[in-house]
Amino acid sequence: MCGIFGYVGQRDDTPTLVLEGLRRLEYRGYDSWGIAVKRNGTALVEKHVGKIGQASTSLPASTIGLGHTRWATHGGITTLNAHPHLDCSGRLALIHNGIVENFAELRQALRARGHVFRSETDTEVVAHLLEDELRGAAGTREALRLATMATFRQLEGLNAIAVLDVQTSTLVAAKNGSPLVLGWGDDGVFLASDASALLEHTRRLSFLADDQLALLASDGAWLYDVRSGEELRPAIREIAWEQQDGGLAGYQHYMLKEIREQPRVLRRIAREGQAQAQTLADLVLDAHGTYLIGCGTAANAALSGKYLFSRIAARQVSFATASEFAYTEHYLNERSLVVALSQSGETIDVLETVRAARERGAYLAALVNVEGSSLYRLADCPILLGAGPERCVLATKSFTAKLAYLLLAAYAAAGRIEQGVRLVERAADEIEAFLDDPRAAQVAELAQRLYRKEHLYLIGRGPSYPLALEAALKIKEVSYIHAEGFAGGELKHGVIALIEADTPCIVFAPRDETQRAIISGAMEVKARGGCIIGLGPDAHEAFDHHVPLADVGDASVIVNAVPPQLLAYHLCLLRGYDPDKPRNLAKSVTVK
Ligand code: F6R
Repeated sequence: MCGIFGYVGQRDDTPTLVLEGLRRLEYRGYDSWGIAVKRNGTALVEKHVGKIGQASTSLPASTIGLGHTRWATHGGITTLNAHPHLDCSGRLALIHNGIVENFAELRQALRARGHVFRSETDTEVVAHLLEDELRGAAGTREALRLATMATFRQLEGLNAIAVLDVQTSTLVAAKNGSPLVLGWGDDGVFLASDASALLEHTRRLSFLADDQLALLASDGAWLYDVRSGEELRPAIREIAWEQQDGGLAGYQHYMLKEIREQPRVLRRIAREGQAQAQTLADLVLDAHGTYLIGCGTAANAALSGKYLFSRIAARQVSFATASEFAYTEHYLNERSLVVALSQSGETIDVLETVRAARERGAYLAALVNVEGSSLYRLADCPILLGAGPERCVLATKSFTAKLAYLLLAAYAAAGRIEQGVRLVERAADEIEAFLDDPRAAQVAELAQRLYRKEHLYLIGRGPSYPLALEAALKIKEVSYIHAEGFAGGELKHGVIALIEADTPCIVFAPRDETQRAIISGAMEVKARGGCIIGLGPDAHEAFDHHVPLADVGDASVIVNAVPPQLLAYHLCLLRGYDPDKPRNLAKSVTVK
């Protein structure tokens, strides 16, 4: 969601530096953006609605500034509502991620004290509140720090703020919930909501914990506890992870690039992920109750884990959507294991849920792609997916990476990890072959037939059921076609009422115990005029179109996840949309 980038130091190209930082954050999803810098003692602000695209900034040279990409929550998508927001005096330019839950009361009180509001946002109240706290205080950094702490303590909800104070030439930032990272550069200090925006400048990072405040100036940066005011020693982490994504590397879109990276990611997990998978397996074997949780695509991967552990290791693990798990956590205790799945490691529904689970004593493992993310730091046992940066808003390679880890862990729990490793390697080979041979073109042709459809249904049974959900999610998110995934067995319990002449229905038909029943379901849809697209190793008369996919045993789920990703990509292009920036979606969902 919203992105934050700031810099103070010796460089005077801050406007461009901040703009480039915001470009690095574009993938998070946003609808407007803005930058503020200090020049001749005043805050100069530039704000725009829409994407940054090829824009350059008209702001003059400066050695201090900050910028923001906004994903609208309070107030429409307008230039006035875009951040930064100024206080009445123009001394402070403030940006914010999160939601100030008590903003209405605060705004009312501030208005009564004479403050004039220019936007409809919850953010602007923070600028005016800080202005009030600074009234009568000395024009020093110390006064700014104390006033910001006092301001931040009055905010309800999960928030991160960053302020440019032109009087003291300081950036001050504080967080509770939403992420913030400091970057220690050679010629200045950086601030961002996302480590990946900083890595081109420095790999020396300090992740702010909740209720911490950072003061950044040209001569350094300092960290404090917001509650006690105590100064803290910033822990500096040298980030070694492969986070430079090398740009589009010749691809037209990140989505396609990331789909094609999957064989490499899977081989790496097969090669290097065995110890981590064994650790996860041991935790599951030891626990009294394991709960796999996640949101969106990560939830679909978690649900797959339930099937994989059952069929491979005869082990019961439970699944829950993270946002719902919070309402059924009452039975968790110190013997429970919660395994949270998340690409970003910043999804608020996941973080809130696991924090509550920890309070009940549960042990927390995490399958997470972003090192240093909130979930990564929170987990007792963080397992890095190592899928590399995923810049397309849609999750693709992080999904199959999660499946690979869960499959390896299930095989490890069964004492047969080598077999799991071989299957993941074979899945990588099969995906590579699929992407390079005429079947990929066949999927593009299918998209031609489907892109004008209003509805699309997908069915699968057993391990293919979460795949049907995931494929529907991919198609919905990026092509905006209404797509629904169902458990094949549920067809006759309602869904079949929706089937009309030529309604497309994608059927996952792997060569496993679900094949016969799912084909029966396909026949029933076909009998009502539906158009059947079969995915699986064996052709069948029920299929109007068949995309042949190799049988890779339990790893077929990994292979079968890929053709729908490619289909979604082509549907999106044919409908004239940008696959990397789907409307209304954000890469890290950091507000509820
Ligand atoms: C789908 C997608 C979302 C995310 C969900 C969770 O393509 O990207 O559904 O999977 O928002 O995000 P993470 O995995 O970062 O917790």
